[in-house]
Formats: sequence, structure tokens, C-alpha cells
Amino acid sequence: MTINFDSEDIGSNTSDNRTFEDVLTSFVSRRSVLAGGAAAAAFVFAGASSVKASAVEPTRRTASGVAARKRPPINFTSIPLQNSPMPTIAPEYQYKVILPWRTRLDGKGEFAYGLSSDQQAISAGLGHDGMWYFGDDKKGMLAVNYEYGTTTHALGKALPTSLEDVRVSQHLHGVGIFYIEEGPKGWSMKKDKRNRRIHVNTPVEFSGPAANSDLLKNSAGNEPQGTLNNCANGYTPWGTYLTCEENFNGYFGTASTAWKASAEETRYGVSAAGFGYGWHTFDPRFDRSQPGYQNEINRFGWVVEIDPENPKAKPVKRTALGRFKHESAEVVVGKGNRIVVYMGDDERFDYIYKFVSARDHKKMIAAGKSPLDEGTLYAARFNDDGTGNWLELSPSNPALSSWTIDKILVHTRLAADLAGATKMDRPEWISTGADGWQYGTLTNNTNRGRTGQPGVNAANPIRQNASGHIIRWKDSDGNLGGTFQWNLFMIAQETFDEGGQMFGSPDGIWGDPDGRIFIQTDGAQPGANNDQMLVADSKTKAIKRIFTGVAGCEVTGVAVTPNRKTMFVNLQHPGDGDPKISNFPAPFTGAAGPVPRDCTLVITRKDGGVIGS
Ligand code: FEO
Ligand code: CA
Ligand code: CA
Repeated sequence: MTINFDSEDIGSNTSDNRTFEDVLTSFVSRRSVLAGGAAAAAFVFAGASSVKASAVEPTRRTASGVAARKRPPINFTSIPLQNSPMPTIAPEYQYKVILPWRTRLDGKGEFAYGLSSDQQAISAGLGHDGMWYFGDDKKGMLAVNYEYGTTTHALGKALPTSLEDVRVSQHLHGVGIFYIEEGPKGWSMKKDKRNRRIHVNTPVEFSGPAANSDLLKNSAGNEPQGTLNNCANGYTPWGTYLTCEENFNGYFGTASTAWKASAEETRYGVSAAGFGYGWHTFDPRFDRSQPGYQNEINRFGWVVEIDPENPKAKPVKRTALGRFKHESAEVVVGKGNRIVVYMGDDERFDYIYKFVSARDHKKMIAAGKSPLDEGTLYAARFNDDGTGNWLELSPSNPALSSWTIDKILVHTRLAADLAGATKMDRPEWISTGADGWQYGTLTNNTNRGRTGQPGVNAANPIRQNASGHIIRWKDSDGNLGGTFQWNLFMIAQETFDEGGQMFGSPDGIWGDPDGRIFIQTDGAQPGANNDQMLVADSKTKAIKRIFTGVAGCEVTGVAVTPNRKTMFVNLQHPGDGDPKISNFPAPFTGAAGPVPRDCTLVITRKDGGVIGS
């Protein structure tokens, strides 16, 4: 049995929402929705002034209160692509490794390879992905997602052969919360009572409209436990961390030949084989044929809120944000202090969503309510004329009038199918630029336009889109409106670098307050080179390469100190976990060297400047 980590590639959206293939040629070409392209001037974009070269870019305050420059300097030396077992970084920059897999929470170094499940539960996990930093310029709490981890990587076993092996794999997943500070030798983790691991067996609770739904109850009566496949993230103005559960389906399976997936399970890609983790062999929670655990699968696929300052607080699954393969959760304070959360569902032909809180978030918190528990969920329809509509996912939408709200929130993909959302090329991260537009990565979709598959549309204009693209949109009415305008920021295969393509498969993205867009990649890079991080100017689209990762790795996760002079970036699965490819963070010595370890990199500019400058 092989593990299919690129499991988003399966694609499970067979709904017949319009794909715009027939209307593509109506009046808009792929080029004309690339604002700044030659045809853009002929294209009516009522509110696109912020992306026109002649527009005045507003000055805005940075997190440190210093007025931002009108043009963001991106003055470092762009480096070439490479495919070595070690990373490279622009010559003006440096990096330091912290928090590699197996780092002990108690500050006493690290556990050796082959650690027990109990040891794994009190040390850094594997599959470092999204993260955020809560602190000042010198010290604070770093929350790190652990997306996945197998017995192959952790124990050298293709499959678990005991419940203990399963527990090791389970404890590799989840979130780590660490106190870190900058000392004379740079940043490091220190022992702290707030240091914490959350994993697949940590007690959690549900909140929001579906919290008490029968769809979340098992006849076994087991309390909710755990979070897994913690991909990207978000953070709130009230100081909490959001971790997003992505490919939860792959952890479930069964040996029962009598079991058949329900329509809902099929839509979420649940299968008897799963992705090959083998948890179901020893842990009945993950066996789909176990009658006592009939709804265990519905307990995953959520955005989970964590208080990084309170190690005793249970993680809370916020059902109002819907259930799908959550990639990230970008929180914006909209008009009237309403909370708006933009989210992607990473699978071929799946959707972009937004949630809007019912009221002013400060008043909700003062009244003892979470702004993430009451509000409205929407799915995006990208019209081919550069406008868009947020389609309400509630019983007030005539397409969903026979659905209850808990059914909508648990089986959100099917609700969005009925609402008529636009099938996208694997929505990954979303971030807000200095221009107030949301930037969303669409990593790739090689099935687009193939026989029997949805065709191209203006928002997803590439057939067999192997390299992906980046879309951006701006909502009406201070992020609250039901309409938006959109354009394409970059099509990866059209980015140029000394005669070659600049990048492929954009995934992580972060807009800084000066107008820089940081782009991280996960997948096929030009020339079979390593994944990377780039810095783009949101207005001119000028782009430079600041960092290239290790062979086999993904570059993901981005967090900064308030002054933006320190950036944290993750290296996920260096060498794909194989010491023949990389021993990172150890220097490369080959198969006899250590098994590579996922880790966090602390990036600083040698002259102490702002990252990206
Ligand atoms: Fe976990 Fe879609 O990346
Ligand atoms: Ca990702
Ligand atoms: Ca990805």
C-alpha cells in the first residue's frame, strides 16, 4: 500500500455547476483578466484602480506603527533555482534552524530517532506547515501546525504493526505551541508552562450551530478528540490561533469488504484504503465499518481555535466555518468590526468560502460570544466578467431550503455544489495584501479540461493546469458585501526568470503591509528544482527569489515579529523523509546520515532590515 500524499489530486466534485467552458469565448479572454496585461484597459473593472499602474497606492501603517513606503523595496539579490540537499538563501539574508521534529517541550534537547508515542506527545511533531507568532520583537509564543507524519518516516516501518505504532503516527500530527526568544545566539525555544502539544488524541470541543448535531455524535458515546492534517492557519484579533484540518479523509479506512462509502463520504474522498496510514487497523475510531463510530469522520475537516497562552484550554472546532478540506483561514476585520474569514478547500474543482460574523466582534466578545460561532457562510462564484458573488450557504438560500443548518455546515461541499459555486484549481492559502485585496493561491489542477472533467473558466483559464496561478479579489461593502471584483495576479507558467519559468504550484502566500507578496511553493518547480519562496511587488508584479529549500521538501508557513525583521518559515518533509536525498538540518552525507527532520527556519536580514527588502 502506498501513501498518496498529493491526495488533493484525486478530485471528488462531480456536481454539474457551470464551468463557463461554453462562455469562455463570450467576451473575456484569459489575458484580459490578467490586470496589467495588454488587454486590461479594454476590460471594464469598476473598482480595479488599486491594480492600475497609475493608481496612487495608499500609505498605511505597519504593525509597528511606522508609515509604510509607497513602493516596497525588494532590493535583495534574487537567487537561482537549485536542487541540492541543502537550502540556499539570498546573500543579504541568513537563516537558523529551530524546533526540528523531536525537540522536547521541556527544553531538555531532543528525543532520539525511534521515539515512543509518549515521547512524541511531548515533543515537536512532523509535517511543519502553517504557523503564527504571538509576541513582541524579541520573545513570544510560536504556534506550529504539523500536517502529517507516517510510521515510514518516524519508525522506518511502511505500516504500523501495533497500536503503539499508530499512536506514534497520531502524535506526530496536530499543533505545537512554544515559547521562543531571541538571545545572543539568535532565536531558540525555552522551557515554559505554556509550551504544549495538541495531537490526534487531545480532548477538543465543538462550538457553533452544528455543535450539538446528531451528525457529530457516535453511538459509542466517545468524547470529541483530536485534530489532524493541520495544514495552513489563521489568527484572530483577540489573540488566538486557528489551525485548519485538510485531508482528514485519508486517515480513515477499513478492512471490511461489506463497507460502502455514503454519498457524503464519497464527496469528501473517503475510501476503504485511505491514504495508507493504517490507523484503522488498530484504532477503531478510524475504521469506517465500526458501527459505534459512525460519525467520527464528521468530527474532522474543521477550523480549530486554540489559545496559545492557556495550555489548559481545549481546542475548539468552530462549526460555523463549515467542514471541508480547510487549507487556511484568513481573518479580516470588516466594516462595523465584523469578522470576515476567507477560506479555501484544497481539492481539484473545489471552492473558496467566506464567513461573516453576525455582529461587531468586540460586542460579541463582551457579551460572552465567539464571533466565530454566529454568522453566515458563503461560497464564491467567479463570473467570467471579473465580478463575483458570495452564495449564501444557509436554509435562506432557495437551493438549500430543505437543508438544516447543521447539515449544511457538516456537509458543506455538497451544499456549495447546490448553491452553484465555481470549481477552482485547488484553493490553497489566502492572504490580504496592503491594497486590501485578498490573494489566493490555486496550486494546480492537471485534470482541468480533460475529457469528462470540468473545462476552463475565466478564473481558472489553463487546461491541465500543471503550474497553478494566483487570483485576487476585493469584496464590496467593507468585506461584508455579497459581490466582489476579481482578477488574476499571476499565472505561474507565464512568470519568467532568465528565460525560464519562475515557479510552479504556489501554496503559501502572505501579503505584508508594504505591498510585498511572499509566495511559497509545494510541487513541481521548473527544471525539477527544489521548492522555494519568492517576493513579489503587488502592483508591478516584479518578483525575486529569496529562498530555495531542500530536495524533496515543501516550503510553507510564514510568520513574522511585529517589526517584520524576523520571519519564521517551515521546511516540510526535507528529502521526503529519505536520508538518501537529504539529511537536513544535518549537512548532507547520504543514506548513512540522519533521517531528515522537518523544522522551522528563522530568517533575518544581515543588516537587520525588514524581511523582503
Ligand atoms: Fe496542506 Fe493543500 O496543502
Ligand atoms: Ca498547503
Ligand atoms: Ca500544496
